[in-house]
Amino acid sequence: MNAPPLLAVDGLGKAFDGLVANRDISFIIHHAEIVGLIGPNGAGKTTLFNCLAGFHTPTTGRISFEGQDITGTTPEAAAALGIARTFQIVRIFHSMTALENVMVGAMLRSKRVADARYRAEQELAFVGLSHRADNQASDLTVSEQKRLEVARALATEPKLILLDEVMAGLNQTEVREASQLVHRIHQRGIASIIVEHVMEGIMPIAHRMLVLDYGAKIADGTPAEIAENPAVIAAYLGE
Ligand SMILES: Nc1ncnc2c1ncn2[C@@H]1O[C@H](COP(=O)(O)OP(=O)(O)OP(=O)(O)O)[C@@H](O)[C@H]1O
Ligand SMILES: [Mg+2]
Repeated sequence: MNAPPLLAVDGLGKAFDGLVANRDISFIIHHAEIVGLIGPNGAGKTTLFNCLAGFHTPTTGRISFEGQDITGTTPEAAAALGIARTFQIVRIFHSMTALENVMVGAMLRSKRVADARYRAEQELAFVGLSHRADNQASDLTVSEQKRLEVARALATEPKLILLDEVMAGLNQTEVREASQLVHRIHQRGIASIIVEHVMEGIMPIAHRMLVLDYGAKIADGTPAEIAENPAVIAAYLGE
C-alpha cells in the first residue's frame, strides 16, 4: 500500500493586496524528515508557515496532510491534525510559569489537568528546561523562551513541527544544542521544517533543503546540492 506523504503542497500562492509573498510553491515532506527552509529576508518563509499552520488562507494551490485536504484550515484544526509551530518572535504567556505555558499545548490532547501537567513536565525535560518549570516565562532568557515554545509545540503531540528561526541570536554552544534538539525530535518520528538563517545550525542536520526567493521555490535538494546551486548562490549574493 502506498501511504500518502505526510505533507504535500501543490502550487501554493499567497498574496497580500498587490504583494505576492508566496508563488506557485510545490513540495512534499515525508514522515520524520528534517527539512531546512531558507531564503533571503522577505522571501516568504514565515508566510509559508502561516499557510501550512492555518494562520493564513492561501490565495492559490492546495495543502494536504496525510492525504487530507487542509487548504484554508484553522490553526486549531491544523494543531489537532498534528501540525505544531513556533513563532519567529516568541509568543509565550509572560505572566504564566514555564510549566503552565507548556500545559497550554498539552491541553490540546488531554482535558485532565494532571495529565497535561505530567505531559508538560516530560516536554520541559526533553528541551532541558526542567529547572525552570516554576519560573515565570518572562524571566527566561531568549534562548530558553525559544526552547519553551518548542516544548509547548511538542506537547501538542505533532507529526510535523514548524520551527521559525529558533537558532537566531543563540551563541555557538546554544546553536549546537538546538541542532541536537532537532535531531532528537526526528528520533521521535516527528518531521520538522526549519526556517533558519543560521546555516551552521541547519546544514549538518537537514535531510533536504528548500530555498525560497521572492516568494518562489528556487531549489529543493540535499544541503550539499543546495550549497553549490548557482540560483541559490545568486539569491544570497543579491545578483
Ligand atoms: N500579513 C501581511 N500583510 C502584508 N504583507 C505581508 C504580511 N506578512 C508578510 N508580508 C510580506 O510578505 C513578504 C514575505 O514575508 P515573510 O515574513 O514571509 O518573509 P520571510 O522569508 O519570513 O523573511 P524573514 O527572513 O525576514 O523572516 C514580505 O514582503 C512581507 O512584508
Ligand atoms: Mg520570517
